[in-house]
Amino acid sequence: MPGILPPARRPCPLLLLGESEDLTVIRSHLRGHYRSLGARSRRLRFMSELSTEALDRLADRAEPELLLELVEDGSVRAVLEAYATSPGHVEVAISVEDPYQGQGLGRALFEEGLVVLAERGFKTADLVCLRENTALLRLVSQAGARMRTEDGEVYSEIELHRALDQVRTPEPQVLTPAVQ
Ligand SMILES: CC(C)(COP(=O)(O)OP(=O)(O)OC[C@H]1O[C@@H](n2cnc3c(N)ncnc32)[C@H](O)[C@@H]1OP(=O)(O)O)[C@@H](O)C(=O)NCCC(=O)NCCS
Repeated sequence: MPGILPPARRPCPLLLLGESEDLTVIRSHLRGHYRSLGARSRRLRFMSELSTEALDRLADRAEPELLLELVEDGSVRAVLEAYATSPGHVEVAISVEDPYQGQGLGRALFEEGLVVLAERGFKTADLVCLRENTALLRLVSQAGARMRTEDGEVYSEIELHRALDQVRTPEPQVLTPAVQ
């Protein structure tokens, strides 16, 4: 069962699905979320306008270290995925359902995600996005990311201890009992 985190700056419940979670639950959440993304969001998230079948396959193979979900209007509307790449390092991807973009959900989830990852002992978080992805670039640059561009893609590395100084420094904790 996912844990619930206290609300961040926005009064949105956050659900944390971690290593204690059944991978099939995590994958089914990802499947549903990926399917909700429109063509543009799919391109921005996956660097390619993947078909629903291709997204299903990706979700069914995913093994994230953790999944942080943001609930709005009674359902999960945004997801942050974190994949451990080497000791202390994690690759992060984030996506918000199309009708909910541009309302601050991405920022709330991203900032909470950085806090949770730092608490878990990760030192850096890497993100990759297209150069045209202004919203994501705002988030990572304001978190103090080191960035380099290659073939139209921007590779960002965030030092988590530095980023937390620039976002916020709460003490997130998983509350029980969990609900969904
Ligand atoms: C990128 C994404 C996660 C951002 O989440 P969001 O909820 O839309 O963004 P927010 O409303 O929290 O805004 C974050 C910042 O980007 C800016 N922004 C949001 N949408 C924007 C747009 N269309 N153009 C320019 N800036 C934008 C906001 O002004 C805000 O900056 P500010 O706080 O300094 O004003 C979301 O748009 C998304 O899911 N996109 C498709 C998938 C994707 O691109 N994933 C990233 C690849 S890993």
